[in-house]
Amino acid sequence: MKIGVFDSGVGGHSVANAIRRSLPEHEIIYVQDRKNVPYGMKSPELLLELVKPILQKLVDDGCQVIVIACNTVTTTIIEDLRQNLPVPLVGIEPMVKPAAKLTQTGVVAVCATPTTLASKRYQELKEKYTSDITVIEPDCSRWADMIEKDAIDQALIRDVTEESIQRGADVIVMGCTHYHWIEKIVERIALGRAIVLQPEEPVIAQLKRVIAQLD
Ligand code: DGL
Repeated sequence: MKIGVFDSGVGGHSVANAIRRSLPEHEIIYVQDRKNVPYGMKSPELLLELVKPILQKLVDDGCQVIVIACNTVTTTIIEDLRQNLPVPLVGIEPMVKPAAKLTQTGVVAVCATPTTLASKRYQELKEKYTSDITVIEPDCSRWADMIEKDAIDQALIRDVTEESIQRGADVIVMGCTHYHWIEKIVERIALGRAIVLQPEEPVIAQLKRVIAQLD
């Protein structure tokens, strides 16, 4: 089966690699929007305009399911996209629920783009799962761009991670697929003090369920 994987840029690449490792019998077609990356500060209206034709092309090329490997797109426009496309879409969103379950300190940090943090879906997740938990949202607005340009600012990552831990966070959520590329760096800094969550495993599990229904 042809599976489409989409992100604004290199973030989804990490997700596509993980899917390839898990589902080697399927053909993974990965597309990114190099012209318009980063998406993290764009409005939902503009995102819809940009993403719809890219996903339609994946459908035209024979993809039977598409993974939106982008928190920013999932949390803002996945329902609009679902209404416009004839194939199932598997989304990725910040792991707020598992983070709330795992925290011992009652403080979690969610690293995500400004558009994700402002989205209705993310606000709903917070209301539903974190009513008795403090959620820190550090300023990661430069992260996607620096990862895209392969200009990793280790000091910036250290500052954000340390500050989150100082404020009590014992769970750090990678709420943007670009950050998967720096997961190991954050993990090293947080070692023994906070755990780092990113959703590749649950997304692959969901993808497998969708494929089973299509077969
Ligand atoms: N990788 C995307 C996400 O998961 C978008 C990052 C960006 O383009 O700003 O949110």
